[in-house]
Amino acid sequence: METVVSGIRSTGKLHLGNYYGAVKNFVQMQHEYNCFFFIADYHSLTTHPTPQDQHGNVKQVLVEYLAAGIDPEKATIYVQSDLPEIVELYLYLNMNAYMGELERSASFKDKVRANPDNINAGLLTYPVLMAADILIHRATKVPVGKDQEQHLEMARTFGNRFNRLYKTDYFPEPYAFSFSNQLVKVPGLDGKGKMGKSEGEANAVYLSDEPEVIRKKVMRAVSDSGPTEENQPKPEAIQHLFDLMKVVSAPDTLAHFDGLYNNCQIRYGDLKKQLADDIITVTAPMREKIHAISNDTSYLRQVALHGALKARESASKTIKEVREIIGFKEF
Ligand code: ADP
Ligand code: TRP
Repeated sequence: METVVSGIRSTGKLHLGNYYGAVKNFVQMQHEYNCFFFIADYHSLTTHPTPQDQHGNVKQVLVEYLAAGIDPEKATIYVQSDLPEIVELYLYLNMNAYMGELERSASFKDKVRANPDNINAGLLTYPVLMAADILIHRATKVPVGKDQEQHLEMARTFGNRFNRLYKTDYFPEPYAFSFSNQLVKVPGLDGKGKMGKSEGEANAVYLSDEPEVIRKKVMRAVSDSGPTEENQPKPEAIQHLFDLMKVVSAPDTLAHFDGLYNNCQIRYGDLKKQLADDIITVTAPMREKIHAISNDTSYLRQVALHGALKARESASKTIKEVREIIGFKEF
């Protein structure tokens, strides 16, 4: 059976982009593959969270994974920092990751632009750590959103380089995966780019948002005064509203509003009301489950312990074999 690995950084609440880009695929994949889903808390250290925030954020993502439908009996759910084997593999891979290629990564350049005061080495080698996350279980499928495609390409490069250096075929090639065949990019509500945690509170709809909050955010989303000619192309912000509708609403609903747009009869207030209702329908069961389990410490502890045990079994096997390949030997 093919092995699947994916993770989400523990930097806050999950939003619709995380859900449709990654978590929804996790839920479907757990029935068909050998799945490892983790909470990327080593990765979150690039932003220097306080010890208090660190634990709270990990717990939040664990609760939301479970609320979204990941079943700890089917998939292995674990916290990345429970697997020190990942750090060891990261060190080995770093020996064959080159400054030039790391500096050229699009996400590194974005981070440098956004935080010129905190360009640390962890940020530069972020794709190496991500490759270690995947290669530690020798996974071939990685459910992620479109923004992670370049990181997957780098993971293949690092794995292949290791194989060439040691004349082995130990690491298989991992590829980004989505059930919809195309990697997903969920737009934000600000009319500009993707939905993301760092784009401001109003840009993202969180799985834990109350219905009134969702309505308010959607009604305030950027739009314009409406089309003036039949079948005219949609400006970016309007296209984003339709793209959001494409992920959360029924195909008929999308077709209905598309028709209204094309014959200039659309009222964006109606579209937004429908969009908010459809988002609420999707998120309500998850929000309820988040409330139900977030204080169940003994359940959460049991899930994390069980997951760490299963994940370490796989990771320690890889590390043992990698050490042999590299040539470490006991005297
Ligand atoms: P954020 O971008 O909000 O900080 P992460 O970088 O932790 O979230 O992303 C976690 C997962 O969610 C990744 O697989 C990423 O591709 C996916 N993801 C994040 N935002 C979006 C989006 N707007 N559309 C599709 N997938 C997304
Ligand atoms: N880099 C991913 C993101 O920002 C999170 C991540 C870390 C990840 N390690 C991974 C995703 C391994 C898939 C596999 O979204």
